[in-house]
Amino acid sequence: MSNSGRIFGPDSQVMLSQIKDPEKIVDFTLSHLSLNVEEAQKLLEKKSLNELLDEIYLELSKKIEINKVQEKIQLNARESINKSQREYYLREQLKAIQKELGDDVDSDMDLVRIKIDKSLMPEEAKSEALKQFKRLEKIPPDSMEHTVLRNYLDWILALPWGKFTTDKLDILNAKKILDKDHFGLDDIKERVLDFLSVKSLKTDCNTPILCFVGPPGVGKTSLGQSIARSIGRNFCRLSVGGIHDESEIRGHRRTYVGSMPGRFIQSIRKAGSCNPLIMIDEIDKVGNDHRGDPASALLEVLDPEQNNTFYDNYLGINFDLSKVLFITTANDLSTIPGPLRDRMEVIEISGYTQNEKIEIAKRHLIPKSIKNYGLETYKINLSDKALEVIVKKYTREAGVRQLERLIQKLCAKFVRGLLEQKKELLFEPENISKYLGTPPPPQHASLHKHRIGVSNGLAWTPYGGEVLQVEAILVPEGKGKLILTGQLGSVMKESAQAALTYARAHANKFKIPKKIFSTYDLHIHVPAGAVPKDGPSAGITLLSAILSALTLRPVNSDYAMTGELTLQGEILAIGGLKEKILAAKQEGLKNIIIPKPNAADLTNLGEIKKGVNIILVEDVNEILDVVLMAKETQT
Ligand SMILES: Nc1ncnc2c1ncn2[C@@H]1O[C@H](COP(=O)(O)OP(=O)(O)OP(=O)(O)O)[C@@H](O)[C@H]1O
Ligand SMILES: [Mg+2]
Repeated sequence: MSNSGRIFGPDSQVMLSQIKDPEKIVDFTLSHLSLNVEEAQKLLEKKSLNELLDEIYLELSKKIEINKVQEKIQLNARESINKSQREYYLREQLKAIQKELGDDVDSDMDLVRIKIDKSLMPEEAKSEALKQFKRLEKIPPDSMEHTVLRNYLDWILALPWGKFTTDKLDILNAKKILDKDHFGLDDIKERVLDFLSVKSLKTDCNTPILCFVGPPGVGKTSLGQSIARSIGRNFCRLSVGGIHDESEIRGHRRTYVGSMPGRFIQSIRKAGSCNPLIMIDEIDKVGNDHRGDPASALLEVLDPEQNNTFYDNYLGINFDLSKVLFITTANDLSTIPGPLRDRMEVIEISGYTQNEKIEIAKRHLIPKSIKNYGLETYKINLSDKALEVIVKKYTREAGVRQLERLIQKLCAKFVRGLLEQKKELLFEPENISKYLGTPPPPQHASLHKHRIGVSNGLAWTPYGGEVLQVEAILVPEGKGKLILTGQLGSVMKESAQAALTYARAHANKFKIPKKIFSTYDLHIHVPAGAVPKDGPSAGITLLSAILSALTLRPVNSDYAMTGELTLQGEILAIGGLKEKILAAKQEGLKNIIIPKPNAADLTNLGEIKKGVNIILVEDVNEILDVVLMAKETQT
């Protein structure tokens, strides 16, 4: 009965084995057999008990057979399902293996082929791409070379061949956009608009490349962005600062895995059109060493005569860069290699005055930070007075970067105030230090004291102008030696020598006892000692300090000065005038002595010269009369 488990469960089997009475057995079994009407009728018609039992036996045997068959079918079915699952799994694995082996590359290769055919690349590029494609077909897909070639084709196909944006040549609109993005910079905008006008009239003319030069944070990079926006070109920034390797510009040769095109081709891909505006940042900081000379590679890129056939080593074909509009930026013009500088039209962007900084903050930096911090619905209470305190006491920079950071800091404090104290903070001059910390101490605390042997000079650095104090002191028991410290460059050392010679030569006139030069040493020091300094423009500052030390007449500290000195006592022109005047203003020095030959530079100073007294001098005596005070007037 084991096979009839479906009809008779184990319980009924036990019960049945205990029933001895045949009639009860009949009843029990019949009640468990599920019979249809016909079968039941047949059984009912049996006359004797034996006949009935025979019939039931038959019926049961039938059921057993049926069950056996059913079980077999089920077993088969299960087996077949297991088998097909296994097969499916194996097939999947096989597919993965085939993919690894590159067996399915065919369709992929077809796609590449179609792309090459459809691409708008010039004939030369297309034939090179097809040549490489044919090689690729012959190389086994698992080889290294296959990957290299495949990457190459991906690169060449990813370039925006034949894609050009149309320039918006509406100069008035361009002006509007430039004005909207940047405050001030009027001359610079003018020159940019002149440049754009020429460009728009004759697209294929060889206009020089613009180069914005100025201290950090004055808006060189962002001006470039805004120019791109104003004429509707795609923009891409490419920093060449610190590049030593020529192949960064020209691309690596395609011989090893991981080689890449140069930065310019990469930029074209990033920009997505063949005529973007590419801003070459930090062009004054390209390196130059044994790995090649990136600056001369740049020469080729920036030369309108050559750059229509710029050869990238990786691409192995010429690419036309002549439709690209290049703008470069630099902090220091003097470190740009001559031939490179020659190709560029230099536009100097000087630092900002305090008033300009306040305006820039109000119109641009504050709204920008408010937007960044999601504070549009609040009113940030930063009064003009508070802004003035921030500009005057917390920032010492030519540009506005630090100012922008401080404004962002205040916005962060504002958000925190909203969350922690559930109130909108008010920023006033009195409480600024609570949020920004105590302001840094003034650079030269002693700047405004009239002292013997200390004069205020003005220096230019790539980061902006600076007030530079020169100290001279007599050292007793000496032999007339000149000691120079403070990391002075050779030009500055020679200026000191010349100034001392001038003083000795005119000792009588300044009532300097002759024997001072044989009994004392003269030590000249220019703080801060760790910062390298050079250049001839400290000539008159050095002379003032030296004469003051020799005559014991204090130097009037209301004056700041700059000018190169000749042995004849003439004063020669200097550079970086704007930055120097700004630095003097920043430190509160109102009288500024500059060489007369620099008078022409004063005409386009605009706002910068407001509030200061500029004194033009051509002979050293004019200075000494005002700068050297009477004895005993030291403060
Ligand atoms: N005249 C201005 N009007 C509005 N925003 C300005 C102005 N000048 C500078 N900025 C802002 O100051 C920030 C710094 O400017 P940017 O990054 O262009 O400086 P940079 O001159 O390129 O400096 P670096 O030499 O360090 O690269 C930017 O957020 C810029 O928008
Ligand atoms: Mg920049």
